[in-house]
Amino acid sequence: STQDYYDLIADATASIRDRVPAHLASPKVLIICGSGLGGIASRIKGDAEVILHYETIPGFQKSTVAGHAGHLQFGLMGIDPNQDNLVPVICMVGRLHFYEGYSFQAATFPVRVATELGVETVIITNAAGGVNPRYVPGDLMIMNDHINFPGLSGQHPLKGPNLEKFGPRFPATSDAYDLELRKALIHQAEAANLSRTIHEGVYAFVSGPTFESRAEVRMLRLMGADAVGMSSVPEVVVARHSGLKVLGLSLITNSGVSDPPTSAFIDDSQTPDSKGHASHEEVLLHAQEAAQDVETLVERLVGLL
Ligand code: HPA
Repeated sequence: STQDYYDLIADATASIRDRVPAHLASPKVLIICGSGLGGIASRIKGDAEVILHYETIPGFQKSTVAGHAGHLQFGLMGIDPNQDNLVPVICMVGRLHFYEGYSFQAATFPVRVATELGVETVIITNAAGGVNPRYVPGDLMIMNDHINFPGLSGQHPLKGPNLEKFGPRFPATSDAYDLELRKALIHQAEAANLSRTIHEGVYAFVSGPTFESRAEVRMLRLMGADAVGMSSVPEVVVARHSGLKVLGLSLITNSGVSDPPTSAFIDDSQTPDSKGHASHEEVLLHAQEAAQDVETLVERLVGLL
């Protein structure tokens, strides 16, 4: 019931406040680390950090995917050399996905708990497939909109009784991605002299765990998607339900394969279908190569908050 869910959020919050020192227990920012991007948490300054494993927090599920640990890391982040103006953050190292078998309510539970702890801004990172033909692996994309395919077809994180304590029954999503945060990120990329290409575009959320077929990639392109992935939108929706500010950053780790399939009717058939497919290894490899730039961007952005 709704009351049970509220109680579970209260239990998780109490368990965290019990174990995290006061100066870290009221974080301003939640950072959700995407596949292979857990290194963002390494930008937490000094040794004043606390790690809580998911299995020790009421209501938290375990992360089951390679490239995703499973803990919350509390600490201070920023780039102030005097370390005077560092910002208390929580890094969620290892996110929970719908395709792992978790309900959206379970997968977005950490966002509810972060809201209860007083977080005002959520930085959401992910690995994504490039759908826009101009995107190449290693590029970054700032999310400025999304298509919530599961949500549109009735699998929605806000389905069921509305959590009135957190937000309205019918929240808007047309303004989900904070313009000032997006501008600030571009500014920080320039200030840090990053050479990596940064786009701004539309993230299509699909449930996975299959990578898209060729026809699906072409469909997504026609529908206006620039990138596709299996995460983030549920967290964005739940964060926006409570009016938190959101920045979404996708690392393009592979290109969606959109060539037409081979034809059994054509003799000198084109590329075999076995050529050009996405794989989790490719995703993690490109994530590793670009991880430092993502870490730098997030660290600098947090410093401004
Ligand atoms: N499709 C869906 N999710 C992804 C992809 C992809 O190609 N790459 C990384 N996450």
